[in-house]
Amino acid sequence: MNNLLKIQGLSKTFSRGGDTVKALDNVSISLEKETFAAVSGPSGSGKSTLLNIVGTLDRPDSGSVSLEGEEIDYFNEGKLEDIRSNRLGFIFQDFNLIPVLSAVENVEMPLYSSNLSTSERREKAEQALDAVGLADRMEHRPNQLSGGQQQRVAVARALAGTPELVLGDEPTANLDTKSAFLLLDVMENLNQTLGTAFLFSTHDPRILERAKTVFTLEDGVLQS
Ligand SMILES: Nc1ncnc2c1ncn2[C@@H]1O[C@H](COP(=O)(O)OP(=O)(O)OP(=O)(O)O)[C@@H](O)[C@H]1O
Ligand SMILES: [Mg+2]
Repeated sequence: MNNLLKIQGLSKTFSRGGDTVKALDNVSISLEKETFAAVSGPSGSGKSTLLNIVGTLDRPDSGSVSLEGEEIDYFNEGKLEDIRSNRLGFIFQDFNLIPVLSAVENVEMPLYSSNLSTSERREKAEQALDAVGLADRMEHRPNQLSGGQQQRVAVARALAGTPELVLGDEPTANLDTKSAFLLLDVMENLNQTLGTAFLFSTHDPRILERAKTVFTLEDGVLQS
């Protein structure tokens, strides 16, 4: 079976004041293992909502999400924690690195919930930084790195726990063209060599062009 992610009939409504917004309306998507996919759509179309739900940072009103054939139980906090730590990686628009920690310490952070020893953690973090081309920046703190380098640290952090799927919410939005391309090269390379699947949200044509599959949302509805 080559199915990684199956999203079926996902709906999510937000209410605020007297206003309700249907952020996702009956969305169904299937992703194969080792894919390099993107979700596009205008601002407010539901991209972040979709990634947050797949990433178990939010829960749907109805519908289901299955990872490798197993439906995610959004009310089982222990299981959700396990999925977040061991099966998914996250990259955010604004990098989300911890300013007082070095690059290698940032990459080690998600590994604390595993039962690796200190030296195993360090070794994994160093390998991940090496894989994103930052072997010579291990001890730099985020403010000593360029935006593109910070985002590559974030990619290394997302990959250190060897997840099956990395979710990126507009990962190139704050990068100049050159850094965005370099980031894409790094991620494509990891996708091809490690087989890690990537799912991005973006309205960046530079990413859309290189995605193997593109899903488009409009007002929470998947376009065919
Ligand atoms: N926590 C929330 N409370 C109320 N409304 C929300 C909340 N989160 C999202 N929304 C609304 O849901 C809709 C979808 O938002 P979402 O953030 O998923 O869009 P998006 O496609 O990621 O947009 P962008 O490209 O601007 O990041 C929008 O109308 C938004 O205002
Ligand atoms: Mg968004």
